[in-house]
Amino acid sequence: MPRPIQATIHTEALRHNLARVRAAAPDARVWGVVKANAYGHGIERVFEGLRGADGFALLDLQEAERVRALGWRGPILLLEGVFEARDLELCSRLNLWHTVHCSEQIDMLATHKTHQPHRVFLKMNSGMNRLGFMPQQYRAAWTRLNALPQVDEISLMTHFSDADGPKGIARQLEVFAEATRDLPGERSVGNSAASLRHGTDPLVRGDWVRPGIAVYGAAPDYPEHDAQGWGLQPAMTLSSRIIGVQDLVAGDTVGYGSSFTAEAPLRIGVVACGYADGYPRHCTTGTPVLVDGVRTRMVGRVSMDMVTVDLTGLPDAGVGSAVTLWGRAGNGALLSIDEVAHAGGTLGYELMCALAQRVPVVVAE
Ligand SMILES: Cc1ncc(COP(=O)(O)O)c(C=O)c1O
Repeated sequence: MPRPIQATIHTEALRHNLARVRAAAPDARVWGVVKANAYGHGIERVFEGLRGADGFALLDLQEAERVRALGWRGPILLLEGVFEARDLELCSRLNLWHTVHCSEQIDMLATHKTHQPHRVFLKMNSGMNRLGFMPQQYRAAWTRLNALPQVDEISLMTHFSDADGPKGIARQLEVFAEATRDLPGERSVGNSAASLRHGTDPLVRGDWVRPGIAVYGAAPDYPEHDAQGWGLQPAMTLSSRIIGVQDLVAGDTVGYGSSFTAEAPLRIGVVACGYADGYPRHCTTGTPVLVDGVRTRMVGRVSMDMVTVDLTGLPDAGVGSAVTLWGRAGNGALLSIDEVAHAGGTLGYELMCALAQRVPVVVAE
């Protein structure tokens, strides 16, 4: 029998979340962001649930090839554009739209031989200071691109640094609006947080929104909001089983470093899931977990292949009992990936992306 750990991808949840983002940003077209192998879910596994998107946005050319291999003929956008000149050949061949964020990418385009002009998304650095042209350089970049026979349509884009928090997007939105005033072209500015929190603003939803985390059913702004509060459903469940039970007496410790000490007699369940499966090692005593769909807590340190859980209040639990590390339990109970991530000092984004190769994944309706 294989080790009992398993991840489940919920196709219906993906569909539901996509519809939820559409409702938050009405009239905008939606890029399903599937970079990082669909945030760890697997491009091929999420395709059915996300095929209602208007396009797919990603980073790697190999991932773009995988989306085309699935039969997708609609738009695909490379969010960081090309990394070297020869990447443009694949863009021509697969009809990939690509971001242009620096003058070197314009130089590459200028020498590219193509029969089919490219659709590009010209990126502005409106304040995040990662990728993009400064607002004062933007118009010159647009003019240069517009003069190239290799370029067909130019869309305008930027990315927010603080859409999920109190600083907000107002300043960056103002910079973008000012620097693009009277420039033609479709616009794309909003990620999940901007779409959910500000999607009613026509400037924010623009022509295209680019939600990633929301379509996977996690909150972009946890703990201010949780996924349920946003009406999102988890697209991934990580589940396993109890493979051992220990009865402790007061004073006994659990796991490496003896970081947890029982204050009274305590039943402990040992779960087949550890950091080598992608469960965060920084989660400590108190991290929530579901056993047979009932909420309890992790105790002690996470080790490579196991975590230990408190079975107080679960007299029927034992070897073979179902454990939900995040997602949806068999009885419908939910444990959000954001809550687990928060306990480990990180984000749901990181946990889903870090699901380990060794974990078998099944796709459910
Ligand atoms: C340019 C760009 N657009 C959209 C997204 C999607 O962001 P989120 O997952 O927060 O919706 C990302 C993610 O990092 C991104 O880099």
